[in-house]
Amino acid sequence: MEKKCFYITTPIYYPSGNPHIGHAYCSTLADILARYKRMVGYDVFFLTGTDEHGLKIEKNAKKEGVEPKEYVDRIVENFKKLWVELKLSNDDFIRTTDERHIKCVQSCFSTFVKNNDVKLGKYEGWYCVPCESFWTDTQVGEEHICPDCGRVVEKATEECYFFDTKKYLPQLNKLFDEEKFITPVNKKNEMINTFIKPGLEDLCVSRTSFTWGVPILENPKHVAYVWVDALINYISALGYRSEDETLFKKFWENPNSEIVHLVGADINRFHTIYWPEFLFSLGLRTPSRVFVHGLLMTKDGKMSKSKGNVISPYPLIERYGVDALRYYLAREIVFGNDGQFTPEQFIERINADLVNSYGNLVSRTISMIEKYFGGVTPEYLKNVNKEDDEIDQLIDITLKKYIEEFDDLKVTEAITDAMNLVSRANKYIEETTPWVLVKDETKTDNLKSVLAHLARVLFVSTKLLEPVLVEKSTEVYKKLNLTAEENTFENVYNEHFLDDKQVEKGENLFPRLNVNEEIEYIKSVMVKVL
Ligand code: ME8
Ligand code: MG
Repeated sequence: MEKKCFYITTPIYYPSGNPHIGHAYCSTLADILARYKRMVGYDVFFLTGTDEHGLKIEKNAKKEGVEPKEYVDRIVENFKKLWVELKLSNDDFIRTTDERHIKCVQSCFSTFVKNNDVKLGKYEGWYCVPCESFWTDTQVGEEHICPDCGRVVEKATEECYFFDTKKYLPQLNKLFDEEKFITPVNKKNEMINTFIKPGLEDLCVSRTSFTWGVPILENPKHVAYVWVDALINYISALGYRSEDETLFKKFWENPNSEIVHLVGADINRFHTIYWPEFLFSLGLRTPSRVFVHGLLMTKDGKMSKSKGNVISPYPLIERYGVDALRYYLAREIVFGNDGQFTPEQFIERINADLVNSYGNLVSRTISMIEKYFGGVTPEYLKNVNKEDDEIDQLIDITLKKYIEEFDDLKVTEAITDAMNLVSRANKYIEETTPWVLVKDETKTDNLKSVLAHLARVLFVSTKLLEPVLVEKSTEVYKKLNLTAEENTFENVYNEHFLDDKQVEKGENLFPRLNVNEEIEYIKSVMVKVL
């Protein structure tokens, strides 16, 4: 059977300064989904990149006295470096200044012109430079404030092309009828109530008042509006309209490919209203799902440099390891909800889950196998202790739920289920008391069964956590003496997988954190970044 395909994207980021954990949040969750899908056998393409055109970049470059391209070449490195630190497994990194992308945008715009989907007009309105967004009089109000970021907007009048958003409205409405096109569902209702019901306005899709953008072939004093430019990255990166469309055919046109865009709530509208309309104009299919995640905030609201509450991922990765940060982002912040970063919750989450629960299960299990069986995992037996059955059943249920939830993009739920299995296994140790069983010669089978079951939970839970714990899972596989070939996902269903394996405890996985000291540490780096 042909393998199923999965195409997952992050937004392309505006390169400005250093990325903060809000940016890391979105890309890390996309990575976790990509790794999960690869693990269960999908053919995956994971895309991220940078959005480098527009007035904001042009102005920033001017401030620094360099050409825009020189400016972006430098700061894009900040993102690339962080993505490496976060262990992102992206298959490509697209930049909107790439030649391949520019050509694709020009070609798509030509189709809009040919289809009569755009017409020349005059734009008069309000423009927010930092957000690259146009707003109407009512939207900016009397004080002329951008509804998104709260900064003062500029009056703008210029010739531009308008995209006819009403033409494809019937198709758009049909798309909105699909249950999972936008999730969570409140994010879908927001789009319907705020933009669709009041009536869509035509969208200005080119600019003439600055030059840092993709020139429109039919009318080169125009550059493509940054959002038209940016959204097309999802198909230009796959080689759409290039000499080699292999990836595009496989991951976009293929009905057997699931396409998921991960976006923050602030850019929902562009992905769920305008992007599908552009795709209709191009005669292309629309994404399977747009998943809208929440914003990561601190106690004083949205992270911003001026407030001094920006949190850099670097000191966290350096001190606690990349897995701790990845775990925190996936588990503590409920995927789909807004979340608040506090140093207290960060440290508590790591101590409770990774040190006390998971780390503890790893070290207790392996050290008991070493102590009682010379490091050789005993054979898996059935129906020995009454608690064993419960463990077996919980493994079955957990595997089923985990896959259903992950496939439905419920990352936090899936990880929580994996951790519940870990907690249950720790409790099972207390219930079965192997240290008592070892003293009774008639209980040897009971002891064997307990340790075989624990070893199995250890392997299964590590597999389930592997998309998140990319470094520590490898360490555990080493302790369990597993070669890359035998270490497959299918083996979670194999009860005898670890029979007779020689295991080795080695170092502890996660050191226990001193709560007060670490909270002080995070507070001290929190204000200093950027
Ligand atoms: O919007 N918490 O780029 P961007 C969670 N270039 N997510 C956050 C966040 C926070 N505190 N701050 C930002 C753009 N994000 C466009 C996208 S796509 C064709 C073009 C998220 O760098 C934000 O919601 O401003 C968005 O999804 C992503 O970071 C990039 O934001
Ligand atoms: Mg933004």
